[in-house]
This record gives sequence, C-alpha cells and structure tokens, in this order.
Amino acid sequence: MLKQSVNQVTVKTGGKLYIAGEYSVLTPGQTALIQFIPIFMSAEIKKAQTTQLTSDMFDYSVDREPDVNYALIQDALNTFEAYCGENLPALDLSITGKLERDGVKFGIGSSGSVVVLTLKALAASLQKDLSKDILFKLASYTLLKQGDNGSMGDLACIVYEDLVSYRSFDRAKIAELIDQMTLSELLEIDWGYRISPVVSVLKARFLVGWTKQAAISKDMVKMVKSRISSKYLSETEVAVQDAIKALETGNKNLLKRSLQTVSDQLESLSPDIYVDKLKKLKEAEQGLDAIAKSSGAGGGDCGIAFTFDQASRDILVERWQQAGIELLYEI
Ligand code: PMV
Ligand code: MG
Repeated sequence: MLKQSVNQVTVKTGGKLYIAGEYSVLTPGQTALIQFIPIFMSAEIKKAQTTQLTSDMFDYSVDREPDVNYALIQDALNTFEAYCGENLPALDLSITGKLERDGVKFGIGSSGSVVVLTLKALAASLQKDLSKDILFKLASYTLLKQGDNGSMGDLACIVYEDLVSYRSFDRAKIAELIDQMTLSELLEIDWGYRISPVVSVLKARFLVGWTKQAAISKDMVKMVKSRISSKYLSETEVAVQDAIKALETGNKNLLKRSLQTVSDQLESLSPDIYVDKLKKLKEAEQGLDAIAKSSGAGGGDCGIAFTFDQASRDILVERWQQAGIELLYEI
C-alpha cells in the first residue's frame, strides 16, 4: 500500500555536461566522463483533489490525459505507478527552474533532469525509498519506452549528482525486455552498466561556456551515429580512461593530452559538431595553461574548459565573452 502522501515536499535535480566520451558511449560498454552541474530545477508536490501537472516551460497545466509537451512528466508518473503496482493518488505537481534563458535552453540535460525530478518528487511525496540504482533504472525505463536514442549517461550523472564515469548498457536489449518482463523482474536483472563517482584531486578550474545556440541531441545523434567507427571507439575509450586517471591522480598534462585527443576525435567524427562558436570556444585556450572542448552532442549548447592558473582563466573568459560565449558556471 502506498502511504498517504505527505502534505508538501520540494525536491530538486541538477544538470550535467560531458567531459569526454560523447558519441562513443552510445555503443554499449564504452565509457564517458560526465560532470554534474548544480544548476537546479525544482518540483513541489502536494495532495490534491484532482491531479494537476504544471511546468513553467508551458503556459498551461494538464492532468494525466496524454499531452505531447508533458510527455516526459506524464510518462515518469506512469513508470512510478507501474513500480508501485497500484494507482497513484491525486497530486499537484509543479515544476520550476527551466534550464534556459530567454527561451534558449542551456543544453545541460533538462529532459533527463525532469524525468529524474518527477520520480524523486513522487518517491518523496509517497514516502517510497528509491536507491540511486533503482532511480536510474526507472528513469532509463521511462526514456527507453519513449524510444529515446541516448546513452542514458545524462541520467547517470543527474541521479548521482556527482562527477561520474558511466559505462553504457545495451539499450536495444533492455528495450526488448520491457515487452517480455514485468517491471519488477526488469529491475532485478543486471543491465550491464556501471556508474562510478570519480574523485578528482586535480588543482584546476572547471568552466562552462554557453554558446546560446540550442542543439537537439537526438537529431545530432541521428546525423552522426553512422560515422562512429571502431577506431573512434577504441581511441576515445583510451582517452576517456586517461582523463579519469588524470583527475584521480592530479596529472594536469595527462588531462590536457586526453581531452585534446577526444576533442580531435569529435572534430573528425563530423563537421556538424564543432560549429563556429564551439570552434571559438576551443580556440580561446591558445597560448594559455588551459584545455577547452565541445561538450555533448555539439552543434551548439555548451563547451567546457579546464584552466590551471588565474591569468589563463581570466583571458579565456574574456575571449569567450568577445566571441559571444557566456560563462554559465565555474568551479
Ligand atoms: O549534448 P548532450 O549533453 O545531450 O550529450 C549528448 C551525448 C551523446 O553521446 C552524443 C549522446 C548520448 O546520449 O550519450
Ligand atoms: Mg547538447
């Protein structure tokens, strides 16, 4: 039995950005290194007479009657209901903090974040403990049922709220099993992924540059996927493992080398990745103690940089500004 929903709960989820392993992680068993970005969305959930779902992305609310704009939120509700094995009580769920400005998204994982957020809100409200592992599986299940073509690396990072290495699972196989197994059976089997928090001891600043040009990962993946070669996979995997080792051992030169390698790989994968602004974002590192690269699918959204002294940080940010790239976050 579901416990009576508590009066009012607020939960939040953040965003993510790829440091390394974009596109290769789409192939099961490959690894990506993904940074948690603490720019948050929040959800307020409370008891209600009838279900009302509201997101500040849209100027209207819905109930559980399918609505395309609310599909991620509604499908997360459906997943949670299947997980509980009984109907959800009527709830008022309100989501705020769209990860965008003036209608242009930051590109730090808002669609994955909203699914995790909805599941977390339901779990908190109905006092169901969800482990990180179950939360990741439920969020992945929700997206797989929608036919999502991503690696689920975004979900791994957003669920763990940490810098993580993520080894991807075979989504086609799990999607097939969705039709053959009950959800509880599916949650019990090993999907074959690995999510491990990475502890960095490297002395560096991590910077996020926002191009203010929105790119749609799903479309980028469709365009680029067929160009992913086994050479791309093997060389990127070595570089991703090097980048992880570099952070864990504080090896600046190894980090620079490995991120340069993945950046070169991305550049040769498809000309659609390094659009003009992302080229400028990368070029801003020239002559500095720094390394910059495109992050995620490319084609717009964000890039990242590590800088290793104050002057390099300042000059890089200045060059970004001149190129119309906004410093979205730094740590
Ligand atoms: O652009 P983003 O941050 O959504 O990253 C996409 C990364 C890809 O490897 C290209 C796709 C994926 O889902 O892993
Ligand atoms: Mg993107």
